[in-house]
Amino acid sequence: MFLYFVLGFAVLACLGEVYLLVSYVRCQGKYPPFINSFGKVREDILQKAEEILQREKEAVKVVDLGCGSGSLLIPLAKKFPHHQFYGYEWDWLPFFLISRRVKNLPNVFVYRKNFMKEDLRDYKLLLCNVGNGIEQELGQKLKQEISAEAVVLSEFFPLSFLREKKVYLSKLYGLNVKIFLYMKN
Ligand SMILES: C[S@@+](CC[C@H](N)C(=O)[O-])C[C@H]1O[C@@H](n2cnc3c(N)ncnc32)[C@H](O)[C@@H]1O
Repeated sequence: MFLYFVLGFAVLACLGEVYLLVSYVRCQGKYPPFINSFGKVREDILQKAEEILQREKEAVKVVDLGCGSGSLLIPLAKKFPHHQFYGYEWDWLPFFLISRRVKNLPNVFVYRKNFMKEDLRDYKLLLCNVGNGIEQELGQKLKQEISAEAVVLSEFFPLSFLREKKVYLSKLYGLNVKIFLYMKN
């Protein structure tokens, strides 16, 4: 029994590795892979997002740039049914998962698209967790497009061009990590 468990685990781990490798090759190493937010840093970024959204009496639009399978978008959408939540995800597997998970959430809209090609001006809160060197490009795009009231929360990675308002310290399995809060000016 134990041997089957170990073998099953090894096969799954290999499939996971192959999946990440294929994704990496498909995007030519340009986009970060599908790894959901998890652990304390996920709790912390959700808490910061909730603090921002609680202050909004009118309905606002929130976007997760690279929404994965929805580990941030879905709890927020459930907690704030009067706000609208948008997710962009280029990769088929997380997109397949999130599409199924949000079927009964009328305030969530997900698109299998490259968020770098989308217009981001309407969002009040923007979430992201993107490394791989697109921080510069994304920072520049956000600087050009977002409104003066919009808030950007970036998990782990600092973004260029925007004004850094706060840096929160968090933890991920004992490692020190950061959440950056930006505005346009
Ligand atoms: C680190 S994961 C974060 C997932 C999710 N935000 C969460 O917290 O659970 C980054 C995700 O962004 C997606 N991604 C990266 N660059 C993208 C792009 N330009 N357009 C759409 N999705 C992108 C990746 O496929 C990956 O699933």
